Amino acid sequence: EAIIQKGGANPAAMPCMSCHGADGKGMAAGGFPRLAGLPAAYIAKQLADFKAGRRENPLMQPIAQALDDAETAAVAMAYAALPKVQVKVMAGAPERPKEGSGAWLALRGAWDRNIPECTLCHGPAGVGVGDAFPPLAGQSAEYIEAQLRAWRASPARPAGRKGKALAAVPPTRRNDPNGLMQHIAADLSEAEIKAVAAYFAGL
Ligand code: HEM
Ligand code: HEM
Repeated sequence: EAIIQKGGANPAAMPCMSCHGADGKGMAAGGFPRLAGLPAAYIAKQLADFKAGRRENPLMQPIAQALDDAETAAVAMAYAALPKVQVKVMAGAPERPKEGSGAWLALRGAWDRNIPECTLCHGPAGVGVGDAFPPLAGQSAEYIEAQLRAWRASPARPAGRKGKALAAVPPTRRNDPNGLMQHIAADLSEAEIKAVAAYFAGL
């Protein structure tokens, strides 16, 4: 796909692949997510959210803004057509996680705080469900952590934000219309974020 490889209308003429990889598998160290095999509708929604500022990121916002509707649809289709992440299918007895571990949160949740298990929405082994619930398996711990922190920072976004140095304000993600992730992330501790991210990144 031309835009993935050549950059198209991207302002810096930087092709998607320079950050998301030639194969769309992303790069953990840069916090660049895997795009290969994500549902086209999910990719298009994220680009629209970056464009509208419901999801903030200094690298992605100008790129999303430069794409017109036809280009957005084309890149979404192109990435969706690349191979999905393969998760190991666990045969035999279901996993019995240690209470309080990342696996526990992922598979059992923390219902005392109204936090459902992640796999309820993100699917068994985090493979994703339909167009709305993205896969977590295949994403890096760095990226998963960054998203959870962005949601956690979102509801408390202070009115006085303008006065703060931009670098001191974490990026926000307020693109989840039902507040599902915002609600969950708001109640997660830093230790839980690290543990659950490591769990999904390791699948
Ligand atoms: C995130 C698409 C180019 C850096 C994303 C996401 C999409 C996307 C759909 C969200 C993925 C998800 O929610 O799982 C694209 C397309 C590009 C492009 C179609 C080309 C037209 C780039 C480039 C860079 C970049 C050139 C680096 C300069 C990032 C980063 C994130 C991201 C850092 C994560 C943002 C965050 O933490 O919220 N991109 N991207 N992307 N992209 Fe791109
Ligand atoms: C998106 C983590 C539980 C619904 C995401 C993303 C992460 C994440 C990292 C962003 C993926 C990406 O950008 O590619 C988790 C974790 C959970 C959890 C660690 C458990 C502690 C749930 C549950 C639900 C849910 C229980 C449903 C009630 C969603 C939805 C999105 C999402 C709808 C997409 C939002 C959008 O359109 O941007 N989740 N999740 N998640 N999650 Fe979860």
